[in-house]
Amino acid sequence: LAVGNDIVDLHDAGEPSARFLDRVLAPAERRSAQGAAGVWRLWAAKEAAFKVLARAERTLPFTHRAFVVDLEAAVVRHPAGEVRVRWDTHPGAVSCVGWRGGGEPATSTATLDEVCAAPGTLGVEEARGVSGQLSIGVRLLCKRLLASRLGLEERDLEIRRPGGRPPEVWRRGRRLGRVEISLAHDGRYLACAARLDGARPDAVR
Ligand SMILES: CC(C)(COP(=O)(O)OP(=O)(O)OC[C@H]1O[C@@H](n2cnc3c(N)ncnc32)[C@H](O)[C@@H]1OP(=O)(O)O)[C@@H](O)C(=O)NCCC(=O)NCCS
Repeated sequence: LAVGNDIVDLHDAGEPSARFLDRVLAPAERRSAQGAAGVWRLWAAKEAAFKVLARAERTLPFTHRAFVVDLEAAVVRHPAGEVRVRWDTHPGAVSCVGWRGGGEPATSTATLDEVCAAPGTLGVEEARGVSGQLSIGVRLLCKRLLASRLGLEERDLEIRRPGGRPPEVWRRGRRLGRVEISLAHDGRYLACAARLDGARPDAVR
């Protein structure tokens, strides 16, 4: 079970150039993409699918054109595998979550201001993995999602990235191996996704 996600702040992303389109879109995508927002939908799906497939294949090169989005089927196809995707639209952003196997992941999206309006703190190990305000905000957002879905205390949870690896969920100093998450941030926006299938609340206590 793997999950990946991405979010694009449409205001920051702006209008993609023709050169950019050539570089990142497959020929069929160039024909189907409609407007800037349509291109960023494709982009978010490619990023989400990369994060899913890179879990199993750490050295997977991220060649955007090789991740081909089928909008109708809601899948991204790549030689390394097929990833199911779902898009969520927000007033100024587009987000996408991708996954393999099992049911759909839980997701949460917010602006940095919204997340910072409620109190929250990071653990010591957790703080080592952050790269800025957005990085802090997305951890708080994700811990809130996990705490509410799993019936756990937010203060007991940490999101760590040992050795810069994809994020992992820890609780009271132990890794919750059955919970997989993905984080993304762009501009003012934060998004997280979580696979909780293998983690019934009573199984992680
Ligand atoms: C992984 C990647 C797609 C993230 O994209 P981004 O646009 O920089 O940032 P996003 O907002 O989408 O995601 C950032 C989050 O993704 C997570 N992340 C980083 N690397 C990841 C990976 N390999 N898999 C899953 N999640 C990853 C982190 O949690 C990060 O947030 P944090 O720094 O706050 O912890 C980007 O780092 C990338 O392009 N990597 C390419 C690596 C590559 O080509 N390697 C080739 C090896 S040969």
